[in-house]
Amino acid sequence: MDNEKIIELLNADLQNEHGAIIQYLTHAYGMGEGEVACEVEALAREEMRHLDWLAETIVALGGKPSLKRGTMNMTGKTVPDWMADDVKLEQGAIDQYEEHIKMIDNPKIKRLLRRIVADERSHRGDFEHFVAKTKKEGLKDIRGERKDNVAKTLNWGIEHEYTVILQYLFQSYMTENPEARKQLEDQAINEMQHLGWLAEEMTSGGGSPRIEFSKPDQSLRTSDMLKVDIEIENEVADAYDKAAKEVADAGLKELLLRIRDNERYHIEVFNDLLEDEEAGQGPLGGSNLPDAG
Ligand SMILES: [Fe+2]
Ligand SMILES: [Fe+2]
Ligand SMILES: [Fe+2]
Repeated sequence: MDNEKIIELLNADLQNEHGAIIQYLTHAYGMGEGEVACEVEALAREEMRHLDWLAETIVALGGKPSLKRGTMNMTGKTVPDWMADDVKLEQGAIDQYEEHIKMIDNPKIKRLLRRIVADERSHRGDFEHFVAKTKKEGLKDIRGERKDNVAKTLNWGIEHEYTVILQYLFQSYMTENPEARKQLEDQAINEMQHLGWLAEEMTSGGGSPRIEFSKPDQSLRTSDMLKVDIEIENEVADAYDKAAKEVADAGLKELLLRIRDNERYHIEVFNDLLEDEEAGQGPLGGSNLPDAG
């Protein structure tokens, strides 16, 4: 099997990891604070590690990690039904990985997929347990119908955060500048925190988080990436500042200002990286296009 075909299979796996992360986070936020929600969030984090391993393998093979979101199954109406949907999603992932392990002959990639599928089997068991546990505990969907300006602001923030998470992760995989890679990954993790804070604020305030993304930038040249990032960070720092001034709730105001200050920090980090990159102090003298050498 040629690399192109392997990249295609791994990207299909990566897209489904992406779908699983969003499905599990949606379920965790939807049931509110508690032990099961924490455990479901922890499983979403394990899927993020899978996504990371797959993306790095795809890049090593000369490919680009897909930013499409794969299968989700969120038709369940009650919390135990959600957990049953998650069991089904894990089963689908197990079946797909097993098929790909058979198809791919590269021993290192086979080993990686076997490592991942062992996690998925364990997750399937966890979710089976959560079906019974959430039934026994009578856990309910705590999300409400709130649709006012606060809800709009929070959903706007969630969409922004989700988009830059994908953008910074993509850029961290594609850049050849190691300092940029590290910083982009760190800031992506910080944006994941923002998404979580906003989604939890939304559910506790009687709303329902809408976890959708818009168009992540896919520049391949490090300086282009950073310019786009600085522009978007400037826009959102201003937008969070404005939103913080408009809201009456003191807790929400504090949250929005905290996120605004994080975004201002991102602007400074990216500005420094861009300056180094343009001064040719990057490891490759500033020419970081994959085909530059
Ligand atoms: Fe996974
Ligand atoms: Fe953010
Ligand atoms: Fe940011």
